[in-house]
Amino acid sequence: MGRYDEVFRKSVEDPAGFWGEAAEAITWTKRWDKVLDDSNPPFYRWFVGGTLNTCYNALDRHVEGGRADQVALIYDSPVTGGTVQKFTYRELRDQVATFAGALKALGVGKGDTVIVYMPMVPQAAVAMLACARLGAVHSVVFGGFAPAELAVRIDDAKPKVIVSASCGIEGAKVLAYKPLLEKAIDLAAHKPEKCVILQRPQVQAALKPGYDLDWSEVTARATPADCVPVAATDPLYILYTSGTTGLPKGIVRDNGGHAVALRWSMDNIYDVHPGEVFWAASDVGWVVGHSYIVYAPLLTGCTTIFYEGKPVGTPDPGAFWRVISQHGVKVLFTAPTAFRAIKKEDPTGQYFKKYDLGGFKYLFLAGERLDPDTYHWASDLLKRPVVDHWWQTETGWPIAANCLGIEALPIKPGSPTKGVPGYDVQILNDAGKLLGPNQEGIVAVKLPLPPGTLPTLWQADDRYVSSYMSVFPGYYFTGDGGYLDDDGYVYIMGRVDDVINVAGHRLSTGGMEEVLATHPDVAECAVIGVADSMKGQVPIGFVVLKAGVDRSATDIQKELVQMIRDQIGAIACFKEASVVSRLPKTRSGKILRGTMRKIADGETYSIPSTIDDPAILGEIESALQGVGYAKK
Ligand code: COA
Ligand code: AMP
Repeated sequence: MGRYDEVFRKSVEDPAGFWGEAAEAITWTKRWDKVLDDSNPPFYRWFVGGTLNTCYNALDRHVEGGRADQVALIYDSPVTGGTVQKFTYRELRDQVATFAGALKALGVGKGDTVIVYMPMVPQAAVAMLACARLGAVHSVVFGGFAPAELAVRIDDAKPKVIVSASCGIEGAKVLAYKPLLEKAIDLAAHKPEKCVILQRPQVQAALKPGYDLDWSEVTARATPADCVPVAATDPLYILYTSGTTGLPKGIVRDNGGHAVALRWSMDNIYDVHPGEVFWAASDVGWVVGHSYIVYAPLLTGCTTIFYEGKPVGTPDPGAFWRVISQHGVKVLFTAPTAFRAIKKEDPTGQYFKKYDLGGFKYLFLAGERLDPDTYHWASDLLKRPVVDHWWQTETGWPIAANCLGIEALPIKPGSPTKGVPGYDVQILNDAGKLLGPNQEGIVAVKLPLPPGTLPTLWQADDRYVSSYMSVFPGYYFTGDGGYLDDDGYVYIMGRVDDVINVAGHRLSTGGMEEVLATHPDVAECAVIGVADSMKGQVPIGFVVLKAGVDRSATDIQKELVQMIRDQIGAIACFKEASVVSRLPKTRSGKILRGTMRKIADGETYSIPSTIDDPAILGEIESALQGVGYAKK
């Protein structure tokens, strides 16, 4: 039996023993009474009775343990004229303690919620860690979301304070954040008590006296705050992610299990160790940013990189190679779409050849399917392991991966390799029956899930059970379809629900339909995700107009596109909406989105026997061809 098999077997046969051992790598203020409390399934709790502070483990512990002068975080920002700022563990600890003091002075304490709506500036990490220091619960909202999306999150998380910035910088565009924040607060029923605004030199936000506070002023008068021990099972953060409706799911992350799992993942999955440089080129607004820009590298005593830029255009497709070489990055983690963008602009890797990348060991990719073309291009260019791994906001760390720190298994392009220790991945059919090798079905994980995964949804235990746990009792329902091959390698074929992945960003087509349906001329609509050679998937819409509407279809289409931009955000990349006479449906009225998607992607499809009117498929095909899809 290989080393991976041995470790995996131990993790599923004796989860308490396995994770109890891993937990020794974390500093606890009180040791746990029980590693795994499985007395109330499907609610599993890890390290019950234990107390700790996540910020202490991410910063203070390293300062006290000899890493005070090691660089903890490098801010590299090509969009602000090439800013590079380095923070040692001591400096970062001091800034976090001071900002925690500022939040404390605003009345933020253990259990309070704080929304962080910020671009990729180091103060975003400072704000997150400051909340963790106080035992407060942060909820970071991606800066690309429109005010309406932010408002939904404000109403659900009910933050005492919102921390934001005057602007974000997207390539060459400077986007003022304050007007978006104000609009969101106007839209929301819940009103935060105060906002703290980081003024960036590119835009001065107008602050409302007494309500908006300037980051630099509140920190100048703050007294540093100490770490507050919290229960291992207390929430560290809420991160909203798209579900099948417009109401996002508030994924909860606890403190203890999260620290243990992330710390373990660095050595065992990524083969990264204290003192080394790890770079996740993502955004703090996504789970990758939470886990692998902020928490995991810092819990491990690594140097992490906060990159405010894009893979291309800031200034060129050599941006990633420049950062890796300049900062001595050992492991890069990003989304396949970033590599497709680089490949498009530099297909022969001329920029790659310009840099000395001696210390660069592995590329990890996740967030969407890694298509074999991109895999081969990246691996031929880099001549280093290119590791696909599969995970979700819900799990917070990889479900399937090639665990390089345990045993490098042979790579099979198209597969994220095997279940990570702790995740017993199985394939079920619709009736919940286990399927054999090479049979495609729904990918599920046998309970209990390992530590660090979602213990519930924020104040929505019932939704947690109905969304994930009651579909197949005894299993976590991942929402992905796929299969295992004869060697137990996992293949993820795509979502089985209304979630799509656009440039590695998770979005809900159901949420987009809810927006389109509010257009006064629209009777009904459908949004599907279609294959896109750059972004993996992009959404396109179909609308049926109300009887008697005789306005120009082009005008209506433009309005629909603008509505999604305004209400969800530009990141939805919603650019096409076709007006059709009817939507294809089954006789019972279910819209045949799967069939529409196959037509759009030029795949062969069979006409469902339950369809009420097959003739409509021809109209859908022409509409798709009109916007460049449905090519044979
Ligand atoms: N704030 C505001 N707007 C944002 C934003 C942010 N943080 N991020 C993206 N947007 C906007 C963009 O400006 C763009 O607007 P436009 O339609 O007005 O041009 C729109 O949202 C789409 O953005 P994006 O999908 O990022 O497209 P792009 O063409 O700017 O860049 C890539 C393409 C491939 C370079 C980029 O998507 C990328 O780097 N993806 C990697 C994603 C990633 O790291 N995912 C995390 C999971 S690991
Ligand atoms: P998110 O919650 O944004 O991380 O998105 C999770 C979803 O992205 C998963 O359910 C998958 O559909 C998809 N995904 C993430 N990583 C991969 C991967 N390596 N291969 C295929 N799909 C992936």
